[in-house]
Amino acid sequence: MHLLPVMEGLHSSEALNPPFLQAFFQRVKELEARPSEFEDALHGTVIATIFSEPSTRTRLSFEAAAHRLGASVITMADSKSSSESKGESLVDMARVVGGYADLMVLRHPLDGASRLASQATTTPVINGGDGRLGHPTQTLVDLYILYREWGDFAGRTVAVMGDLRNGRTARSLAWALAVLGVRIVLLPGVGLDWEAGFERRILDRFDYRLRWGKHPLFRDWTGNEEARVLEPKGLVQKSLFREEVPEIDRLDALYLTRLQAERGAQAGPGSYPGLTSAQMQNPLLATCKILHPLPRLDELPSEIDTDPRALYFEQAKVGPVVRQAVFLAMLRQDRWSLPHLTPLPAGSPDVQLGLCPNSSCVSRAEGLPAPWRVVGDARRTFLCAYCDGQLQVEYAGCRSTNKVHALFSGAAFRISPENLQPFLDRDAAEKAGYQWGG
Ligand code: NCD
Repeated sequence: MHLLPVMEGLHSSEALNPPFLQAFFQRVKELEARPSEFEDALHGTVIATIFSEPSTRTRLSFEAAAHRLGASVITMADSKSSSESKGESLVDMARVVGGYADLMVLRHPLDGASRLASQATTTPVINGGDGRLGHPTQTLVDLYILYREWGDFAGRTVAVMGDLRNGRTARSLAWALAVLGVRIVLLPGVGLDWEAGFERRILDRFDYRLRWGKHPLFRDWTGNEEARVLEPKGLVQKSLFREEVPEIDRLDALYLTRLQAERGAQAGPGSYPGLTSAQMQNPLLATCKILHPLPRLDELPSEIDTDPRALYFEQAKVGPVVRQAVFLAMLRQDRWSLPHLTPLPAGSPDVQLGLCPNSSCVSRAEGLPAPWRVVGDARRTFLCAYCDGQLQVEYAGCRSTNKVHALFSGAAFRISPENLQPFLDRDAAEKAGYQWGG
């Protein structure tokens, strides 16, 4: 199957960078202050919202955003009413809908769906939530709310709590907080932590380090008084040689998430971390903004709603205006230009590595071999370019010398990225015509 090598659109919070975010927040402020200036900005444009998973806020706020900018909307809000229920592939759907619309917003249960869809059409695709993986526009909403409160992010500490393993909003936000140099405290439910590889990538990419921090409230939430903290290396000189785990005395924001039962997540009775009104009196939370992407379950009782620190309905409220700014950034660079998003490498479709090991990766459902991309300089890690799952690679071939080497050998390290050909085993390399190079 032929797929385009480009990924147009917004698929992951990995695309966010500081210059883009600063200009983006200004644009949202302009849209809030002078909405009438933008009301014809997308006149004549058709936006498609394709949602094969339930949604209230995301779809309706995208649609409200489109209407506020004068665009027309075509929608598919229930996959049972579409040809998906007849077994149509995502690639075919994207190719067809790409011909009807100028931009497509896609929500899908499989990891990497929006990246794959964007390779089937030249129409830009925005990820409205794909499986466990990403929800970049929710992240822009979350960041904008914090930006409105704080002005800047320097020196802030944000805790993410709940189902980190399955919740795409927490994962997306954590990456973006690292883009902005924020200290991140991790408060996962029991058995609901994200995979080590994701955290390793944050630490490598942003020159962060991992340490532990403690507070008695953490025990109420996770069963452990100590929590993992990801922070920029520059912040930690003083505590570097201290034996004892330092106390975290202040959280600037706490991001709660619900248990993602639809992805098979389970919590033991009473073990899922949530907030109570009594805990809101604790000095740790004295100036802490309370955020939640919604919908909520028991982790966030409604008694807290009237507290001035509770910002989750404000988050929902800015959903449309933030998405207006996203549409303008995608479709009206001519008039309202913004610094570019960082493109996500499309990866190389490659039969050598077989299927992606992640059973919820979109490439498996579509019967495609894992397309790989490589991250890390000193220690190369191969990721599925759709779902970011780690691929097993033991050997590296060089396309120019036709030699294959053990992945962690000096010779493999010296292969330039454009010549790199990963292999799972030596046999496969030799069958592909490579000679053993030691
Ligand atoms: C989130 C989602 O769909 O990931 N909802 C949303 O977009 N606001 C969070 C969730 O469903 O838990």
